Amino acid sequence: MSQQTVTIVGQGYVGLPLAQAASRNGWKVYGLDVTESLVDSLNDGHSHVDDLDDSEIQEMLTSGYSATTDPSVIADSEVVVICVPTPLADGGSPDLGAVKGASRTIGDNLVAGTTVILESTTYPGTTDDLVRPILELNSGLVAGEDFQLAYSPERVDPGSKKFGIKNTPKLMGGINDASTQAAVAFYRTFVDEPIAMKGMREAETAKLLENTFRHVNIALVNEMTKFCKELNIDIWEVIRGASTKPFGFMKFTPGPGVGGHCIPIDPNYLSYEVRNQLGYPFRFVELAQEINNSMPKYVVDRVSEMLNEHRKPLNGSSVLLLGVTYKADIADQRESPAIPVADLLQEKGAHIRFHDPLVDSWKLASGDLVREDDLDKAVEEADAIVVLQAHDAYDLDRIASTARLMLDTRGVAAAPAVRL
Ligand SMILES: NC(=O)c1ccc[n+]([C@@H]2O[C@H](COP(=O)([O-])OP(=O)(O)OC[C@H]3O[C@@H](n4cnc5c(N)ncnc54)[C@H](O)[C@@H]3O)[C@@H](O)[C@H]2O)c1
Repeated sequence: MSQQTVTIVGQGYVGLPLAQAASRNGWKVYGLDVTESLVDSLNDGHSHVDDLDDSEIQEMLTSGYSATTDPSVIADSEVVVICVPTPLADGGSPDLGAVKGASRTIGDNLVAGTTVILESTTYPGTTDDLVRPILELNSGLVAGEDFQLAYSPERVDPGSKKFGIKNTPKLMGGINDASTQAAVAFYRTFVDEPIAMKGMREAETAKLLENTFRHVNIALVNEMTKFCKELNIDIWEVIRGASTKPFGFMKFTPGPGVGGHCIPIDPNYLSYEVRNQLGYPFRFVELAQEINNSMPKYVVDRVSEMLNEHRKPLNGSSVLLLGVTYKADIADQRESPAIPVADLLQEKGAHIRFHDPLVDSWKLASGDLVREDDLDKAVEEADAIVVLQAHDAYDLDRIASTARLMLDTRGVAAAPAVRL
């Protein structure tokens, strides 16, 4: 059988690992992207995402992968997968500009017999109400008849050593059964467990349920953290105790807020659409948002209290932030709560410094901050240290033993570090 071809539109955190999985499993892969510098750097063998290193890009290139800005590759492909960003616009509404743009490009180049799959996270109805009409209008073809159309949400856990594309079950729902089966046939070539769903809307909503579930449960422990502190109850011990229940409980831990794309942004897509179509709010999401967004201020208040107990004002004190990415052991800084923590500390007159093994230079509203070179010296000099991300590279017990004051928002370090 001749080699089959897939074009993956968008070569970011989602599209590039997918390209690797398909490439490793016999597909000829085109990585189509609008960012020319990214395409050039991928073709030169350089990775820009945490989960892939340069040698893996070189391995893909050797297997026939190529990044491109030329949409004519779509006409040579049996499958086209859309992995473009779905951010929020100013004002908090979904920004589907990239999905529309990618759909137009695909529609302009689509040939009969192709399977088109949307992976970008979005509100229920996007594949049918937005992507399908654009594809049909621009191609003159009919979805479900001339070409197959499905939605299959991305589920990657960046930085995870346990779960990758292969061993994470994958949902897919098509416009009709033939489309669902076409998506199953594609993913089955490199995913252990493809799961056919009843339809596209159910697949879209399942992804949002997953993200909202995390968002709400993180907010629950964050809210409990605040009042347990007031009640003089150790929330970390509470969580440790509750986690011993072998059923009906799932462990979530407090922190300085939520980051990345999935948790702070995606649930808004669902609440926006509920309000848009039905006129009432999705209250859980809105409450979770409010609580999780209040955490950076809570962290700053805790630092201020700690300093105050030692007769020091926050104004003029030096505060060292450890770990500024949104998640431990990855370099991704998108939506990281470290940014509002730093902004608030600076507003209060603190002199902030930072250290992160994965970030050389950190972009803040007040300008770029360069990482402290010598961690031990920076720890020694700081009036207070705040652990925002417990990267594996840190020996936090040792840091706690030499720090003047240390607030550990992740509950990892031993005393004398103080937990959130
Ligand atoms: N990053 C994650 O961990 C994660 C997890 C689950 C779901 N998702 C979802 O997957 C989608 C993609 O996210 P990401 O993190 O990979 O984004 P990203 O920003 O890392 O990458 C997107 C890429 O798409 C390109 N692009 C933008 N518009 C384009 C167009 N019209 N045509 C071709 N390329 C275009 C950009 O240049 C960029 O390289 C989003 O909907 C996101 O919510 C992300």
